[in-house]
Amino acid sequence: MTLYGVGLGPGDPDLISVRGREILDGVDVVYSPGRLSRAVATEHVPESRIGDLDFPMTSDEERLREAWKEAAAEIAPEARAGDAAFVTLGDPNVYSTFGHLRRTLDAFHPDIDVEVVPGISAMTAFATALKVEVEAGAGLALREAAGGHAPTGPDRMILFKVTDAPETARKLDRAGYDVRFGRRLFMDAGETVIADDAEAVADRDYYTLAYAKRRGLETSRATDEFAADADANGRVSATTDVEVGDD
Ligand SMILES: C[S@@+](CC[C@H](N)C(=O)[O-])C[C@H]1O[C@@H](n2cnc3c(N)ncnc32)[C@H](O)[C@@H]1O
Repeated sequence: MTLYGVGLGPGDPDLISVRGREILDGVDVVYSPGRLSRAVATEHVPESRIGDLDFPMTSDEERLREAWKEAAAEIAPEARAGDAAFVTLGDPNVYSTFGHLRRTLDAFHPDIDVEVVPGISAMTAFATALKVEVEAGAGLALREAAGGHAPTGPDRMILFKVTDAPETARKLDRAGYDVRFGRRLFMDAGETVIADDAEAVADRDYYTLAYAKRRGLETSRATDEFAADADANGRVSATTDVEVGDD
């Protein structure tokens, strides 16, 4: 039978895909790697079908390898006897714990079939939440920025794992970027924060990302003409801040 890696989306239970929901309905057991993914999963399946896995909070690779071997040993018999799912927030193939599980299964339980159901990743959800349009032709890079790091280079970047927003913001400002932060976007648990000021997200919260754009980037879009026409005709576009008279 099959182990399904199911992306739950960013955290609002209704942002799972229809296929993901159907898979969760049909499998015998649903494993989750953490508290938040478990909370979202329980919106879709009864607690009695949730399988708990224990992962230590450590960067010790030896302990982590042991934990993954234990998780794979627990999941493999379930996925042999029936169908099972392993859920992750966002997409299972984007910076996700699911990758470790799949590699461990490949190494120690290669007979297990694995299928992935994609989820809405924070790397796409940020665009709607932060009102960013990634235009055709624009480049966009995904980077990590834990511990006050501030990668530079690309014109536009999404930064995951922002744990010291003020420090990351200071460095990016010096390097010529404008930065906006998003915390717990489309997430039921906790408070959603969207801010240009890093102080608004200064406290550490793992579910924080940033969008950085090089200052002074020139963009040219075919529809720019419409705004010029609107100005010429005295109409007000949605993004301009102009008072309209009665006549
Ligand atoms: C290990 S990555 C997991 C990414 C996930 N697999 C995905 O596709 O969105 C965790 C990082 O993603 C970002 N992240 C994930 N969900 C988020 C959300 N709902 N709001 C803001 N940032 C989020 C944060 O930067 C967090 O540190």
